[in-house]
Amino acid sequence: MLDRPLDNAIADHKTYGSVDAQHRLFAGLRRDDPVHWTQPDGYRPFWTISKYADIVEIERQADRFINQPRTKLLSIDFESKVKEAMSGKPMLVRTLPQMDNPDHSKYQKLTHAWFQPRHIRTLSERMEALAKESVDRLCAIGGECDFYNDIAIYYPLRVVMTILGLSPEDEARLLKITQAYFGGGDPEMQKGNDLIDATMAYIDYFKDVAKERRQNPKDDVATVIATSEIDGKPIGDFEAYSYYVALASAGHDTTSATIAGGLLALIENPAAMARLQKEPDLIPDAAEEMVRWVSPVKHFFRTAVADYEIRGKTIKAGDSIFISYPSGNRDEEAFDRPFEFIPDRSPNRHLGYGYGIHACIGRHLAKAEIVAFFRELLKRIDRIELAGSPAWTETSFLGGVKRLPVRYRAH
Ligand code: HEM
Repeated sequence: MLDRPLDNAIADHKTYGSVDAQHRLFAGLRRDDPVHWTQPDGYRPFWTISKYADIVEIERQADRFINQPRTKLLSIDFESKVKEAMSGKPMLVRTLPQMDNPDHSKYQKLTHAWFQPRHIRTLSERMEALAKESVDRLCAIGGECDFYNDIAIYYPLRVVMTILGLSPEDEARLLKITQAYFGGGDPEMQKGNDLIDATMAYIDYFKDVAKERRQNPKDDVATVIATSEIDGKPIGDFEAYSYYVALASAGHDTTSATIAGGLLALIENPAAMARLQKEPDLIPDAAEEMVRWVSPVKHFFRTAVADYEIRGKTIKAGDSIFISYPSGNRDEEAFDRPFEFIPDRSPNRHLGYGYGIHACIGRHLAKAEIVAFFRELLKRIDRIELAGSPAWTETSFLGGVKRLPVRYRAH
């Protein structure tokens, strides 16, 4: 059945600028057509998958549903611009989300140990210091600020820069590139740049980092990547730069969106905030609920290798599939009271970090960051409320709150 307004709304960045509109749209899909053939104007068609169980069924079969050649939703116009800029290649970078096995597992192994809880624990002191620095900044600003732009965007960037071993002096440059990279369709966030320029700017920056680390190896992820080998040969330059781009970009906006959206959830649920202040040991559970609640990654794509039946529909070999993580995370059949923020929700097997072999490599780091931040914030905040209306990034891919005016008393 063709439903042009519905299909256009799924692809339209503007839909995601209103959390209510986004959730209304996907609640309708879960109810009426959970495996929905989608043909928006200006985009190649795809299946929209909105139920938790279907997302898991697809993501767990990485040999049947692969990541190549379409990893995310781009307009037909933009896809041809990418091919032009990349001399025929359909993608701007080649990194974990653009890879399938056997390559995916070879590249994932390179940094696997760095992102395991055991290693993340060694960073806890540094992370706590960065969290403290952020809350100090909040206090120094006074009693009112835009929490997203004044606080939330800096902290995860500093953590990722620490992991990669990048110089703090490069913060402003990286921040600008990341924001352009994830601006999506949002005119406010793009600031006149586009994804291609932002990717080129990242690569320009990381070229020097890779060169420097090959000459002077250090104890950081940038060195691990620059000096690694794949099948007994040094990693290719394009793959090394791409790996950096993936970590710097994926590790930043996801976490700032979760922290800002998590704080908004607490402001809207004062009882939950008070409970976490009294029982800080619940903060790790609350961090998981924040990721479920915010679901900053709106989708990734998969492509079917062979025909596949699901809910009475046939996904044909070669069809692409839009996996909606926020929708899976609000699925009434998977979660009790999915539209309530429950800080100690248990169990909470959310899909905010994805599922299967491509599940987020940085999830333990992200959780440790969120926990360190809220431990510090909730200890030092006496009162916090909205000082204006929040706004959300208009993007179908990755983003969350882009403005969060708050009034507070902190010490
Ligand atoms: C709250 C924060 C975060 C959220 C919600 C998040 C979410 C996601 C999601 C949904 C995916 C795709 C999973 C799939 O295809 O099934 C993903 C992949 C990925 N994430 Fe994260 N992420 C977060 C933080 C981070 C951090 C801190 C890093 C690294 C510094 C990171 C690096 C990556 C990478 C490299 C991938 C690609 C994995 C692959 O394809 O194998 N992410 N993330």
